[in-house]
Amino acid sequence: MRRFPFASALVTGASSGIGAEMAKQLGEAGVPTVLVARRADRLQEIADRFDGFSVIEADLGTGVGVNAVVSAVGSSEHQIDLVVNNAGFGTSGQFADLDPDRLGDEIDLNVTALTKISNAALAAMRERGSGYLLNVSSVASFQPAPGLAVYAATKAYVTSLTEALHEEMRGTGVHVSALCPGLTKTEFQARSNTSEYEATFPHFAWTSVQSVASAGLDGVAKNRAIIVPGALYRGLVATSGVVPRSVTRRLSALASKIRT
Ligand SMILES: NC(=O)c1ccc[n+]([C@@H]2O[C@H](COP(=O)([O-])OP(=O)(O)OC[C@H]3O[C@@H](n4cnc5c(N)ncnc54)[C@H](OP(=O)(O)O)[C@@H]3O)[C@@H](O)[C@H]2O)c1
Repeated sequence: MRRFPFASALVTGASSGIGAEMAKQLGEAGVPTVLVARRADRLQEIADRFDGFSVIEADLGTGVGVNAVVSAVGSSEHQIDLVVNNAGFGTSGQFADLDPDRLGDEIDLNVTALTKISNAALAAMRERGSGYLLNVSSVASFQPAPGLAVYAATKAYVTSLTEALHEEMRGTGVHVSALCPGLTKTEFQARSNTSEYEATFPHFAWTSVQSVASAGLDGVAKNRAIIVPGALYRGLVATSGVVPRSVTRRLSALASKIRT
């Protein structure tokens, strides 16, 4: 059986995709986990398969939902060693055409909820002198993404915040990591109106949900600041660090024209 250094966990967005897979991998390793999302029936199905699992039905786009998770991660009675901020979604299309309320909801979830839950988690973990925070960002965080502009901007925030928190927690015993996946087949594509990517991008461009979840859990256990699953995406991220920003921005815009 796989062994992790955390004895308890909480995963947001555990009802599908990367979050559901992380929940399964934690369950198979015997780590009791709190599952968070809006679709409680899906969460319960996963929870029923593993000992010590529980469910919080919460809409993290609302203050009530975020507060429920903030209370759980700050609890001294039921200590949570690993917190995974995974819930998130995107909106594809030309920025000026998009519904502003939807963009606001995207920022509320990807940025505000993640910030408040990270804050509560790190306060409790620093006090204990141990803990693990894994924030799910994206390779889209490393350059602007015309056609997914707000999504990439929210993920740039997540990567920047998480790297800063990684440094702030250095020497405290608390691990902080950003998981930056590339294309991964989940419900994300349907939710973000990017289903056409499945036909546009070749097989080798897709990372499996199992390897993404596994890389995230192993990476935060090792206190890696940034985790990029897959050799292809590690190469692209390394290149984006040396190529001038004007070039990566232009290439990103051209890629979006191929997609649409
Ligand atoms: N798939 C990719 O290609 C890819 C690439 C890079 C990064 N990512 C990131 O990976 C993370 C997981 O995405 P995924 O690919 O696994 O997509 P997914 O299958 O659509 O899963 C998203 C999860 O977030 C939850 N969620 C959405 N809105 C919520 C809300 N208001 N309150 C609470 N939970 C909410 C969903 O549950 P409910 O609908 O039940 O609430 C679901 O469990 C996201 O942060 C995404 O940005 C994905």
